[in-house]
Amino acid sequence: MANVTVIGAQWGDEGKGKIVDWLASRADAVVRFQGGHNAGHTLVVDGNVYKLSLLPSGIVRGTLSIIGNGVVLDPWALQAEIAKLEGQGVSVTTDNFAIADNCPLILPIHRELDGLREAAAGSGKIGTTGRGIGPAYEDKVGRRAIRVCDLAHLDGLGPMLDRLCAHHDALLAGFGAPPVDRAGLVASLREIAPFVLQFAEPVWSRLNKVKRAGKRILFEGAQGVLLDVDHGTYPFVTSSNTVSGTAASGSGLGPSATGFVLGIVKAYTTRVGAGPFPTELEDDTGERLGQRGHEFGTVTGRKRRCGWFDAVLVRQSCAISGVTGIALTKLDVLDGFETVKICTGYRLTGPDGADKVLDYLPSHAAEQASVVPIYEEMPGWEGTTAGARRWADLPAQAIKYISRVQELIDTPVALVSTSPEREDTILVRDPFAD
Ligand code: GDP
Ligand code: IMO
Ligand code: MG
Repeated sequence: MANVTVIGAQWGDEGKGKIVDWLASRADAVVRFQGGHNAGHTLVVDGNVYKLSLLPSGIVRGTLSIIGNGVVLDPWALQAEIAKLEGQGVSVTTDNFAIADNCPLILPIHRELDGLREAAAGSGKIGTTGRGIGPAYEDKVGRRAIRVCDLAHLDGLGPMLDRLCAHHDALLAGFGAPPVDRAGLVASLREIAPFVLQFAEPVWSRLNKVKRAGKRILFEGAQGVLLDVDHGTYPFVTSSNTVSGTAASGSGLGPSATGFVLGIVKAYTTRVGAGPFPTELEDDTGERLGQRGHEFGTVTGRKRRCGWFDAVLVRQSCAISGVTGIALTKLDVLDGFETVKICTGYRLTGPDGADKVLDYLPSHAAEQASVVPIYEEMPGWEGTTAGARRWADLPAQAIKYISRVQELIDTPVALVSTSPEREDTILVRDPFAD
């Protein structure tokens, strides 16, 4: 059995969707295991653009696509996404799509609370996607979530609603907002229930059968390690564990199923939302990276912050997530730069005024915000990597850049991506063959 787990190794938007779609041709099932519709993945196939948030990126090829229990599911967002994809000719049926019946739901009250909190935080806001992700995960661990399986038992929802509303009504009162409209909530759940329930099943069972049959499972992570609730730039993170280990708990398979861990790594760095970003470039170079890379969020349309490649962060992410190999994406965006820089360490001034050099990102938010990157500079390359499909097509200096990245992050390159198009991908080492 050779399974592959795809995770983002930076702050999300590394190009996971493109790589998962590419790998899905060789997988028997693709499973989302955390996050929700805060994710935004753009796939380009023969010029056709598909935007996915909640559906696993295998769905465009028709590969069996599963939403695992670790995801928080907004049923209305799911319905809209399926309708949009069907409009593009992608069929989503009970044959190729299933949802874990123990998956917690994102309700309108979660979205509302996300918005109220962000508005109240003013300049201290996290810059969430406003999708209700944090509040939904809070209710899950607070043991008051409504889950997919509850949609089949709405008549017995009373005691659960009491718990949920007692909590939310208190929070809403604190914001001066009216209490939860219980009747309205139940009515809208009743309306959406049949749509969701047609896909609901104990997916752990289906996945274990796939595993026992020796078939290949591709786990699709959302966000990135630096947004992980434990290992990321806390509190400027998302509310789930985005590391590779979550593939097991978020799908109902043991850790041995995780297989080859493929870290998706952008050839430079971006971040959307607030929080520390040591190599951020608030100058013409940052602007140029953003323009060349079309760095605007898929979900919220926000402009992504851009900066040079940070080898310290990616080395840390690869170590924390046990990354076996990386897919280096968006190399083409660096085409045409006279010089390129890589961050190899940080300088941090201690309380005594003395400088320390760090080879990791410290845990404390204030220290994360004050580290100063130490750069290594390399010449850029002449010619282009855009659209290259073979290693031999890459300019020699671009190969040197890739080699230096591998060396600094202590992790080999398995794939290189050179454009948004599915087939503009160079295979160096097959993750499924390991
Ligand atoms: P994800 O959230 O990790 O799936 O990434 P997004 O889809 O949010 O953002 C990545 C963006 O870069 C998308 O618009 C992709 O179409 C695009 N993309 C992916 N790989 C490449 C690449 O190698 N080169 C270029 N130029 N664009 C890419
Ligand atoms: P994909 O899967 C980039 C960021 C938000 C915010 C923080 C918390 O496309 O890589 P949340 O709504 O999750 O509570 O927001 O996390 N964020 C992402 N940034 N890519 C994503 O997903 C993201 N999902 C959440 O911008 O900073
Ligand atoms: Mg994205």
